[in-house]
Amino acid sequence: MKVNQVELVISAVRPEQYPEGDLPEFALAGRSNVGKSSFINKMIGRKSMARISSKPGKTQTLNFYKIEETLYYVDVPGYGFAKVSKKEREAWGKMIETYITSRDQLKAVLLIVDLRHPPTNDDVMMYGFLKHYEIPCIIVATKADKIPKGKWQKHLKITRDTLKMEEGDECVIFSSETGLGKDTAWDAIRARYK
Ligand code: GTP
Ligand code: MG
Repeated sequence: MKVNQVELVISAVRPEQYPEGDLPEFALAGRSNVGKSSFINKMIGRKSMARISSKPGKTQTLNFYKIEETLYYVDVPGYGFAKVSKKEREAWGKMIETYITSRDQLKAVLLIVDLRHPPTNDDVMMYGFLKHYEIPCIIVATKADKIPKGKWQKHLKITRDTLKMEEGDECVIFSSETGLGKDTAWDAIRARYK
């Protein structure tokens, strides 16, 4: 999908700030620094629409990016970032829990994991949380460019096994560096609202 129009509509921390209207929303979840913002940028073909940094913890609010008047990507702060206080972690937890469990427009969560490494305990917990609330999810195993192609399937199996992924859940091998998996990810997203 070629994206021409993108707008950061709002950076929200509370439900009253979420955008009005009923466009479908797709939220990014994943550990800090895993590549959530980079995923959005690659999907929409912009270099730096969603802010990226070499330092974890760059994204701190729920950032609603409206794409072509058709859908929203919601960039979410990452979890597992050691340098935040307990209080901040709790606030983050509340903010995302409120959004994920109460937002009718949310069609699926894109859970971004690092294809190079087995999912972390936090990843396993997040997947369990999504399953518990029966939120549809699409797993995106990113940074594939950092390991040889011959190892992708083996690493994908470790990802699936560690998360104890359910059969019906899709897992896309992705790279924000090369664009690998972009079309597959768009197909998976479109299938959730068309
Ligand atoms: P927070 O906002 O802190 O939660 O991080 P994030 O998950 O949004 O990660 P971000 O997109 O900011 O990327 C973190 C770092 O990983 C950046 O240096 C990116 O350039 C790099 N990165 C992200 N995706 C890829 C990828 O597919 N391949 C490679 N090689 N690097 C990537
Ligand atoms: Mg980010």
